[in-house]
Amino acid sequence: MEKDISRRSLLCGVALLSAGLSSAATPAIAATGVKILKNGKVEVTLKSNSALKKVGGVVRVDGVNGQSIALVRTTAAANGYTAINLSCTHQGAIVEQSGNEWACVNGHGATFTLAGKNLIGPATKALKQLPIKATALVVTIG
Ligand code: FES
Repeated sequence: MEKDISRRSLLCGVALLSAGLSSAATPAIAATGVKILKNGKVEVTLKSNSALKKVGGVVRVDGVNGQSIALVRTTAAANGYTAINLSCTHQGAIVEQSGNEWACVNGHGATFTLAGKNLIGPATKALKQLPIKATALVVTIG
């Protein structure tokens, strides 16, 4: 049986960026249409998250199996999404969106591109990518 995630149980943010992930983000709308499947995978319904129609759109989902994850539209292709775990690869703090980057909040200073590539240390590795499977209707993460 699948379990719906309530808005309250999630902290979801959506940001729109311009093509190529190169301009400032605008944190905005709470995402909807997110389910945790029995197998632990996360299903994001695309029609409920219009930000993902545009390259550079981001949907953030917190509190899923103890993780914070983000789904980023990286290309216009049908499978043009990247899912990342938002735990910093330095010491595990959750990163927060800052413009068109993810910034670690614990004061060490690491930053990452929205797709997870490490920009500034002390972290030296990219944010962990999660496998995805995309259809025209949903993206399943995990
Ligand atoms: S935990 Fe993120 S920079 Fe140290």
